[in-house]
Amino acid sequence: PDVAVIVVAAGSGTRLGAGIPKAFVHLAGWPMLAHTLTRVFGIAEPVQVVVVAPPEYDESARELLGLAAGQSEALVAVVAGGDTRQQSVQNGLAALSPSVGTVLVHDAARALTPSSQFDRVIAEVRASGDGVIPGLPVADTVKRVTVDVVQETVDRSHLTAVQTPQGFPRAILERAYAEAGHEATDDAGLVSAIGHPVRVIAGDELAFKITTAWDLNRAALLFGTDRD
Ligand code: C5P
Repeated sequence: PDVAVIVVAAGSGTRLGAGIPKAFVHLAGWPMLAHTLTRVFGIAEPVQVVVVAPPEYDESARELLGLAAGQSEALVAVVAGGDTRQQSVQNGLAALSPSVGTVLVHDAARALTPSSQFDRVIAEVRASGDGVIPGLPVADTVKRVTVDVVQETVDRSHLTAVQTPQGFPRAILERAYAEAGHEATDDAGLVSAIGHPVRVIAGDELAFKITTAWDLNRAALLFGTDRD
């Protein structure tokens, strides 16, 4: 396939406090990663899927992908994560099929992200050749602070809250990672750092990241009304 989706699922989930890696915490009867993969497999075209999982969850991830151990990994692969998200993505990049020209990187923790958001990112990467990230306007007033002292109000009309999947031409993302000089909190940050344009398309409220117990409750409540 031309498209690969790297699903990063190797985080520890400390802030969720469930005692197991976040992507394997259950939501409506299934591990969060299962919900994420259902939506990835709903992408309108065939894609390679690379799941980056904690090493001790390799077998669980394979089961969710419907892979018997040792089976061909032409279209689906599970690789071990690293200490940081950036290292986990790097490990995923090493598993891409030769045919892949467009790479999407997605947080497993955004378990309710509709398949349509993936389709829109893919289309925009192809149309523009740029990095493409989904974003939503910032609803709250945002202030820059030093500890608890307000320094200034940031003009929120120039801000966007960024989601995943983030999509890139493969060669651009590989170069951004090869030249990464710092830890970035998203992939587009590294692509911007090598001077390649990144554009924002409309995100989706359902693509929120499940980080805290509150987020998990919200996801469980929403589950019945998921419009995917
Ligand atoms: O911690 P945070 O929620 O920002 O992580 C975003 C995504 O990156 C999650 O899906 C998490 O599993 C993944 N991650 C990873 N490897 C790490 C840290 C985070 O795959 N070392």
